[in-house]
Amino acid sequence: MNLLVTGGAGFIGSNFIRYWLKKHKRDLVINLDKLTYAGHLSSTADFQNNQNYKFVKGDINNRALVDNIVSDCEIVVNFAAESHVDRSIKNSNPFIRTNINGVHCLLESARKNKIKRFHQVSTDEVFGSLNLSSHKKFNEESVYQPRSPYAASKAAADFLVRSYFHTFSLPITITNCSNNYGPFQDPEKLIPRFITNLLDGKKVPVYGDGLYVRDWLYVYDHCRAIEMVILRGKIGDTYCVGGQNKLVSNLELTKKILEILNKNGDFIEHISDRPGHDRKYAVNWNKIHHDLGWEPKFDLSRYLEETVNWYRNNRRWWQPLKTRSESLYR
Ligand code: NAD
Ligand code: DAU
Repeated sequence: MNLLVTGGAGFIGSNFIRYWLKKHKRDLVINLDKLTYAGHLSSTADFQNNQNYKFVKGDINNRALVDNIVSDCEIVVNFAAESHVDRSIKNSNPFIRTNINGVHCLLESARKNKIKRFHQVSTDEVFGSLNLSSHKKFNEESVYQPRSPYAASKAAADFLVRSYFHTFSLPITITNCSNNYGPFQDPEKLIPRFITNLLDGKKVPVYGDGLYVRDWLYVYDHCRAIEMVILRGKIGDTYCVGGQNKLVSNLELTKKILEILNKNGDFIEHISDRPGHDRKYAVNWNKIHHDLGWEPKFDLSRYLEETVNWYRNNRRWWQPLKTRSESLYR
């Protein structure tokens, strides 16, 4: 089988390709990536010479290029996106271009080339924000209430993808997943930013009161979920994917990272809050568990430590990215 994976030089996409090449040794994976600030060939170095892997530098908005690749593929898995909420507050233009227009371009090509499966990698942020005190969780029936330009662009993409199922019978599936962590995540995002700051002896900037809650999931668990949905998910369906019900606040998570790195609370610095900051995400993943047998396997405490160790041992990967990522915040 030939798969087009878009955004495969990013955090989750590169982990997904590594995972797929190991498990599906007869498949060919073509990685189409524009190599924006978030795409790093260094994240694909360990499999770049695999005979079942091919890299193409390009934009998902380039219809001729996309058609050329899609015509040889059975499956499209779309990871390509502008993915950082803070950047969408600073300038939302690339979010509209890639997350909406780019998805539209992929869908048109998938339709024309009669693709067997179009899988859209989406986010729990499309559902908006939960109250801290509420026991509610997002599920497949939750109303879409995106609150950042990033989340709104992903929500628009989900609607487009669904519309291609209903209108053109395009065989689509969607996963809406919670926050991922693990190796090869860009140091702009919370966990790698804090680990790399601390490894450099610097403080960690916690937004606002730090009582924001996320439903952390190890990236390999997300890759397993996407694999199951591609292979056995029901066409036209959406699946919510989330962590092990250990909802932790940013402050609690920060303290865990400090503890692993033997640092004290003096390294915490509260700074001004993100505008429109979503208070809480929590995902009910009963459907994918019931229908496909997926559940998260990787424990947060253990794999947070693994992740810290990965950054400790892979300074060569993140050091060149750090100056750029910190200049964004300045
Ligand atoms: P990322 O920012 O690390 O990677 C995005 C990749 O897409 C980069 O390699 C970038 O170069 C590429 N890209 C961007 N615009 C492109 C374009 N126009 N054409 C081709 N390639 C382009 O993102 P990530 O964290 O790996 O997220 C991957 C996907 O998963 C995104 O769609 C995101 O919305 C979704 N998601 C992320 C998380 C998370 O916690 N990171 C959780 C749920 C869903
Ligand atoms: O929920 C899934 C989403 O998770 C994905 O769709 C996004 O692509 C991904 O970036 C992530 O979004 P968040 O906004 O939750 O992730 P981020 O790492 O930017 O921030 C996590 C939390 O930490 C959030 O409450 C903001 C806070 N934060 C973040 C940074 C970078 C800080 O307190 N300080 C920081 O320096």
